[in-house]
Amino acid sequence: MKLEAKVAVVTGGARGNGLATAKLLAVEGADLVIADICEDMPTIPYSMSTLKTMEEAVETIKSTGRNAIGVKCDVRKTSDVEGMVKQALDRFGKVDILVNNAGNSSMMAVADMSEQEWDEVLDTHLKGTFLCCKYVVPHMINQHSGKVINISSVGGTRGFGLGAHYCAAKHGIIGFSKSLAMEVADHNVNVNVVCPGTVWTPMMQGIAAFFGLEDEEAKEQFLAGHLFKDREITPEDIGRAVLWLATEDTRCITGQCVVVDAGWTCRAP
Ligand SMILES: NC(=O)c1ccc[n+]([C@@H]2O[C@H](COP(=O)([O-])OP(=O)(O)OC[C@H]3O[C@@H](n4cnc5c(N)ncnc54)[C@H](O)[C@@H]3O)[C@@H](O)[C@H]2O)c1
Repeated sequence: MKLEAKVAVVTGGARGNGLATAKLLAVEGADLVIADICEDMPTIPYSMSTLKTMEEAVETIKSTGRNAIGVKCDVRKTSDVEGMVKQALDRFGKVDILVNNAGNSSMMAVADMSEQEWDEVLDTHLKGTFLCCKYVVPHMINQHSGKVINISSVGGTRGFGLGAHYCAAKHGIIGFSKSLAMEVADHNVNVNVVCPGTVWTPMMQGIAAFFGLEDEEAKEQFLAGHLFKDREITPEDIGRAVLWLATEDTRCITGQCVVVDAGWTCRAP
């Protein structure tokens, strides 16, 4: 096992890419803290996870034989993040791996976008990533070891129609991660990014439903850029990239992006 005796925090870990990632980390020996908002957000046009979803996620992770706790935490809020990190330290004594995965999206032209719509996306992705790093990284520095993996997107490397807020946040995560990687390299902390292509999680299903699209029709549109037509990117594909970055196999990789997009960004659109 590659993560024996390690402790990982996965934000937005109650479902989707986050849950798949948490399970893969647990199978490799890590104990898990799942941090999730478990509450809907006014401008996001689909439901977030619930406390029940999170309880089920914790049970699924425990079924691998590892310990896990779920913490209701809105990563946009300092007090929530501070409390979540305290619970992680009280329960497990340390944090070795931080996966900033919590995310959401709405689809909106800039001219029609309210300040609240902008804030709910920017604050979840970008401020949330900042706050979780702010409260976890000092512990990693003290223990002279740690792995931070931030989840960006193909939307962190190019624009998406009606996604200016999402792409601004995802581009921001890449810049933030490169800068943090420079700050903490002397403390044996690696900071890297995973950029997924389209993965058919509740987020994408929610966006499709918002446009009134049936699943198959929506997939045809949202997966059109992928070069592989015989396979879909699964949450486990994203989780395996995160897992790799969490192990010592990548000890000399920092400040980098791993793009898991079935070839989407390797050609001009
Ligand atoms: N699915 C895709 O196609 C895709 C593509 C690129 C990047 N991503 C990124 O992957 C990550 C996971 O997305 P997913 O597709 O699994 O979506 P998802 O909606 O299935 O899961 C996201 C989780 O984050 C939680 N969450 C949302 N806002 C939060 C907040 N403020 N605080 C704490 N938790 C919060 C939700 O409750 C949910 O459990 C996101 O960062 C997303 O932007 C997804």
